[in-house]
Amino acid sequence: MPWDDAGPTRRMLLFGGTRGTGFEVGRLARARSWEVVALARPKSAFDGLTALGCTVVIGDALEPHDVRAMARTHGQGAVVVSTLGGGPVGRSADCWGVMTVVDAMVIAGVRRLVLVSSLGAGDSRAFASDKLIAAIGAVLEEKTRAEAYAIGAGLDLTILRPGGLLSTPATGGGALFDTPRVHGRIARADLAHLILDCLDTPASIGRTLSAVDRSTVSGPPDPVELIPARLARPACVGP
Ligand SMILES: NC(=O)c1ccc[n+]([C@@H]2O[C@H](COP(=O)([O-])OP(=O)(O)OC[C@H]3O[C@@H](n4cnc5c(N)ncnc54)[C@H](OP(=O)(O)O)[C@@H]3O)[C@@H](O)[C@H]2O)c1
Repeated sequence: MPWDDAGPTRRMLLFGGTRGTGFEVGRLARARSWEVVALARPKSAFDGLTALGCTVVIGDALEPHDVRAMARTHGQGAVVVSTLGGGPVGRSADCWGVMTVVDAMVIAGVRRLVLVSSLGAGDSRAFASDKLIAAIGAVLEEKTRAEAYAIGAGLDLTILRPGGLLSTPATGGGALFDTPRVHGRIARADLAHLILDCLDTPASIGRTLSAVDRSTVSGPPDPVELIPARLARPACVGP
C-alpha cells in the first residue's frame, strides 16, 4: 500500500463516476486523499474526474475485457464502488454492468464492494408504491438480479438502496436504515458521504441498508437508523 505524509493512500475503483452520485463519490474521495481510478466510456464527460485528480480508464462496464483489465491493473489493495445505472433492460449497467464488475473483482481477488442499488429492489419491492413499480419495475428487477449476483459472489459487500435522488446540496441528514420498509429521498452528495462512511465501517459489510434523508423518511414507526458511527459497534445494531 503506498504511503504519503498523511498516512496510507487508499485506492478506489469507481464505476459510474462520470456524473450523479458517482461523481460526488469521486469528489469526496479525492478531498479525503483517496486515489481514485474511474472507468469512463470514451464519449462520456470525464474532464471533471480528471480535474479532481482521478485516474480515468477508458472502457465500458458492459465489456468484461475492459473491467477485468482495470481490476487487474489497479485492483491491488483497492475497494470498489459502483453507482452504475442505465441502459436497456436485458443489457443494462444496473445488472449486466454490475455483474461484470463483480466477476472482475473475483478474478482479480478484490474483495470490498459498496454497491448502490435502489429502494424497490430485492425485498424492498414489497413496500414500493404501485406508481414506482409501474414506472421503473423492470429496472428494479435488473437491480434485484444484480444484488443477488453480488451477494452470491461472496464479496465483502455492502448494498445501499437509496430513495429518490436529488441533485441538491448536501444536508448532512443522509442516514442508513436497516429495514426495507422506509421511503424518502436523499441528495446525491449525502449518499456519497454514506458510501465513504461505509468504506470506513467494517460492520457495514454483509448488510443491505436503505439510504434516505432523515428529514424525508417515512415508513414503519421508529425505523431503526444505523448511522455509520453506530454501525461500528455491534451492540447498537437493531433488530
Ligand atoms: N435517480 C434516482 O432517483 C435513483 C433512485 C434510487 C437509486 N438510483 C440508483 O442510484 C445510482 C446512481 O444514480 P445517479 O442518478 O446518481 O447516477 P446516474 O446519473 O444514473 O449515473 C450512472 C452512471 O453509470 C455510468 N454508466 C452507465 N452505463 C455504463 C457503461 N456501460 N459503462 C460505464 N459506465 C456506465 C454512467 O456513465 P455515462 O456518463 O457514460 O452515461 C454514469 O456515470 C444508480 O445505480 C441509480 O440507478 C437512482
